[in-house]
Amino acid sequence: MRRIAVINQKGGVGKTTTTANLGAALANSGLRVLLVDLDPQGHLTLHFGVELSDAQTSVYDILTSQTPVSEALVKVRERIAIIPADIDLAGAEAELVSVTGREVLLREALQPLENDFDVMLIDCPPSLGVLTVNALVAATEVLIPLQAHFFALQGLSRLLDTVTLVRQRINPALHVGGVILCMYESATRLATEVCEDLAKFLEAARGTTTAWSNARIYQTAIRRNIKLAESCSFGQTVFDYAPRSHGAVDYAKLAEEMLQANGQAPAAAVAAPRAKARASGPGDTKALDAQVLPADAPASLGKVDSTTPLAVAS
Ligand SMILES: Nc1ncnc2c1ncn2[C@@H]1O[C@H](COP(=O)(O)OP(=O)(O)OP(=O)(O)O)[C@@H](O)[C@H]1O
Ligand SMILES: [Mg+2]
Repeated sequence: MRRIAVINQKGGVGKTTTTANLGAALANSGLRVLLVDLDPQGHLTLHFGVELSDAQTSVYDILTSQTPVSEALVKVRERIAIIPADIDLAGAEAELVSVTGREVLLREALQPLENDFDVMLIDCPPSLGVLTVNALVAATEVLIPLQAHFFALQGLSRLLDTVTLVRQRINPALHVGGVILCMYESATRLATEVCEDLAKFLEAARGTTTAWSNARIYQTAIRRNIKLAESCSFGQTVFDYAPRSHGAVDYAKLAEEMLQANGQAPAAAVAAPRAKARASGPGDTKALDAQVLPADAPASLGKVDSTTPLAVAS
């Protein structure tokens, strides 16, 4: 099972939309898809129209009571099952604070499903707390949805700090698979510049031992498309709701690209997603310069951020 954590601690960048629709697109390609809602907001659960009754087992029970994962699985589509979440999960961080080995709970819980699915996508909350760390331990691949706006890269630096720590201490297989540009507006200079800065940063990491040395910017950017926003309010994926929309086309293309890239991750794959972007020429990048990750950033990421709640059980 390919195990992917969909992470960005910035809110509203497209994590849940990507988890739901990329998951659906991969299922359309014939894969058996497991979706894990690890966000107390429960948006992924709602996206598939699942309403949790009090009796329904959720990811909260799996993490806090060691309930068998099979009890929480809900089949939502042909080839798609979800482990749902609701607001109860908000209490898990506090409840787990004194639990030894709390970072590995999800990985251990999911173990029995290893052969039942081809790919797992974990939708993370917009924070870097113990839930997100559980996702980073349960996954081997990090997928970062990014909205190409002003502070996008600043947040990325902190996320990569956390990935580095988890990789060093608990999960050596963890690596950044790539970045997906969401709500992308190709015509804007800002989007172009953020993409180019990001491409430069990833390029500088080639051949290093960082977790993102083989990361790519997926060529398929997800365009802003109202059908994506509408579909979730009907408890549907974009393929159910508007199969011919840009949103459906983009996520289907992304799934195809991800499947092709699996196991290859050639360095050459990194480039701004719209080549014509380069034609915009040098602009006023002053404001961006302030947030761009320096080329030597990887070396500085080994430092321990005291706010990162990563206390590994011995
Ligand atoms: N490509 C898109 N075009 C238009 N709207 C989008 C697109 N992607 C996501 N949205 C909408 O933007 C909002 C935020 O998206 P989403 O919930 O996927 O972000 P998120 O990163 O999961 O947020 P959170 O951090 O709160 O979990 C939602 O209303 C969603 O429907
Ligand atoms: Mg979300």
